[in-house]
Amino acid sequence: MSADRARSALVASLVRDGRVRTPAVRAALETVPRHLFLPALDPGGAYADVAVPIKVDDGVTVSSVSQPSMVAIMLEQLEAGPGHRVLEIGAGAGWNAALLAELVGPDGAVTTLDIDDDLVAGARANLDAAGYDDVDVVVGDGALGYPPAAPYDRIELTVGSTGVRPEWAAQLAPGGRLLLPLTVRGSQLSVAFAHTAPGRLHSRSVRSCAFVRLRGEGADPGAEVALPDGRWRVQPACGSDDADVPDPRALARATTGAGSDRPVAAAGTVADLWDGLGLWCAVADPGVVRLFGPAEGGAAPALFDLGGVRATLGLVAGDGCAVLLANPEATVRACGPDGDRAAERLAGLVAGWVDAGRPHAADLRIEAVVPSLAGPGGGAERGSVVDRAGPADVVVDGAGTRLTLRWGPASA
Ligand SMILES: C[S@@+](CC[C@H](N)C(=O)[O-])C[C@H]1O[C@@H](n2cnc3c(N)ncnc32)[C@H](O)[C@@H]1O
Repeated sequence: MSADRARSALVASLVRDGRVRTPAVRAALETVPRHLFLPALDPGGAYADVAVPIKVDDGVTVSSVSQPSMVAIMLEQLEAGPGHRVLEIGAGAGWNAALLAELVGPDGAVTTLDIDDDLVAGARANLDAAGYDDVDVVVGDGALGYPPAAPYDRIELTVGSTGVRPEWAAQLAPGGRLLLPLTVRGSQLSVAFAHTAPGRLHSRSVRSCAFVRLRGEGADPGAEVALPDGRWRVQPACGSDDADVPDPRALARATTGAGSDRPVAAAGTVADLWDGLGLWCAVADPGVVRLFGPAEGGAAPALFDLGGVRATLGLVAGDGCAVLLANPEATVRACGPDGDRAAERLAGLVAGWVDAGRPHAADLRIEAVVPSLAGPGGGAERGSVVDRAGPADVVVDGAGTRLTLRWGPASA
């Protein structure tokens, strides 16, 4: 199949699946030759709907050409248009920068940053080969943004961050938009923030996503903890610092043997388990953990199958924990001396999620306030989430920014 036909087929499938919704994003994807950013692949490989690793350090992928469906979802969230000045953080091979150049047109400007000079050299060469020599490709640590070309109408990170850095908010033009893969209580979410006042950002849309993480000054050490038995990995909702983790022997007993169970409403799909129920529980209770079990052989059969990985949710309380099991009906099982207390809390969270109509990532609203930019009073306007912060709101501080989380429809 020719590259042009493979690209048309890919875009048609993205339109059919609802990933592409606007004519502008469709035209950009139809125009930019992705195969020129992946010269080692044949058209079938270059136009498959998968991310393609382009740099691996010590067995860890540190750069990839992103998955087309994710790129389409994020470009729809970004709403970049003609004449916009855009900063992309995470150039990779330069493909998304070319799409951004199509969206902003000849009157706009795109600057894309990467932390590695070899990646920047590759992106420069690819962009030139594809005819996008007007895109500026710069080596730099995106944690600091890129002041020389600020302010920006749009800032898009294509690399994951655990916080909203004040530098990004400071470099946004009034009314601008910041889009980033943001880790919120253990779930990575693609959040499109509108800049509503100095130092204040409101989410306009939230989607699930999975990106490599920032390196450099904004690097996140990773929240995963390997338990001493070497078989279980735990991801605490609030990061690994000082987090309580379950006793692996209690986990092994609970997930392979019998125990006293409380039936709960089924988690449903894998997406429910992670960015629906999982996100709901982690936002509500900092004791919640995501658990990754032993792979096979003596495997914990009662865990959920997350695309080949055996995983579930747990809650640690005092000297005990509770785990959600697929048994095959969903149940909560207590482990350890304080397990009953943990099980009661976890079962309560599951019931709360069902009562709330099983919300997902898309139902989360996030307000970000950068106190150093917002001035006295945090810049909260009357009627904002922060202004009305109540018992249902969850406040998360980090990276110089306060996030306030609330479930409900996205604000217009
Ligand atoms: C998923 S790739 C980007 C994909 C790319 N935008 C595309 O068109 O497919 C993430 C990129 O972020 C870069 N990166 C990681 N930390 C960074 C940082 N602190 N500043 C700038 N780039 C960074 C990585 O080197 C990697 O190339």
